[in-house]
Amino acid sequence: MSSISNPSELQVTGVAFFGRTFAEYSSFFDLAPAALVGRRMLDVAAGPSSFTAEARSLGIDAVAVDPLYGLSCEALAAYVQIDYARMIAEMRRKPELLRFRHYTSVDAAETDRRAAAARFLSDYPVGFAQSRYVAGALPQLPFADGAFDLVLCAHLLFLYARQFDFAQHVAACRELVRVSAGEVRIHPICGLGGKLYPELPRLLDELALIGIEGTVIETDYEFFAGTRATLVLKAAMTRNAESIVIRREDPFGKTAADLIAEVVAFLAGRYPELADACAMSFHPDDVVVSRSGFFVAYLGGRPVGCGALRPLDDETVEIKRMYVAPAARRRGVGRELLAELERQAAGFGYGLIRLECGVRQPEAIALYESCGFSHIPPFGQYVGKPVSVCFEKATGRALQAPV
Ligand SMILES: C[S@@+](CC[C@H](N)C(=O)[O-])C[C@H]1O[C@@H](n2cnc3c(N)ncnc32)[C@H](O)[C@@H]1O
Repeated sequence: MSSISNPSELQVTGVAFFGRTFAEYSSFFDLAPAALVGRRMLDVAAGPSSFTAEARSLGIDAVAVDPLYGLSCEALAAYVQIDYARMIAEMRRKPELLRFRHYTSVDAAETDRRAAAARFLSDYPVGFAQSRYVAGALPQLPFADGAFDLVLCAHLLFLYARQFDFAQHVAACRELVRVSAGEVRIHPICGLGGKLYPELPRLLDELALIGIEGTVIETDYEFFAGTRATLVLKAAMTRNAESIVIRREDPFGKTAADLIAEVVAFLAGRYPELADACAMSFHPDDVVVSRSGFFVAYLGGRPVGCGALRPLDDETVEIKRMYVAPAARRRGVGRELLAELERQAAGFGYGLIRLECGVRQPEAIALYESCGFSHIPPFGQYVGKPVSVCFEKATGRALQAPV
């Protein structure tokens, strides 16, 4: 790794093994910790940060990846000792590059970040054995497609811009999006001198060409000058020639709520005697747990359908609230939505998908049959329900969940 020497930048040789706390991550990534409980999170280039250790203790399903993981705890402690000394000395040498708002002094930052490293080092031996700390490096991460709900990458890509050229930035962003079923957040978007990554517009254009949407959010946090922005990436919606687009959505959001209400009204029309049971058989809480999700199908930009993946057990997921609005039927939306749900289920690491629909929905039954779902006896809550028709299908999962 090359040496960087520019008087208006922090002088750092190579990529430092330096880390931050959960609170700092929450600030610069603009995270609401309570909303992360039960979510699958990945911290890429995690270094000796305590994000994963602290997240786990809060009930957040976090995993960290870094090329140095796999070394012994003693070796990592030695990296911490050397890299902390040089990073902190550099901060003291260039106070003009720091903003003393969150931390009022370099001493305060040092105390916090040393606490982060100590917490990481105490969690590492057990965490590594439990695959909570995984050896790996961009641009090729050792995880399945869509294995995480939220993927974070702090203080690597743009900060050390001289060590990652434009093509490597594109490849890294693409890889981060590949392992995410939701969002990727990258922070900061500036180099060691605090200047915005000059290739950002070109990067966003290039990512758009490969189906990745990028937006910049401002955060109310700055210690290194110029670090008040975070890049958010999402897989652009899945598109086909008919401009059907399927996107993961917040099940508590308005779009989801409207569609869920439509489904309930539709089912109540077909099964008036079961209207209450139809309304009760799904709640958005069911799909904010780990390895779950709510997906919305758009046709010409309008939300016209939905489907949810609700875990039944480690191996099996259930499709719920599968629906296409009557006006959008016979356009391939249901088939596309089902295929996306199958892809997502496989990405989550499930081997089997189950679903239930009612005897008065011949169009849905025909769709499931033609998509390779097999009839099975009623399962779980549907046992003994004469209107229930149940199906299952193996996902053909090729990849395992995080290794
Ligand atoms: C400055 S630390 C950032 C740690 C943490 N994310 C934070 O914000 O405090 C950068 C980390 O990136 C890791 N790293 C270096 N090259 C990498 C690569 N190609 N892919 C992933 N991580 C890498 C280093 O080992 C180091 O731990």
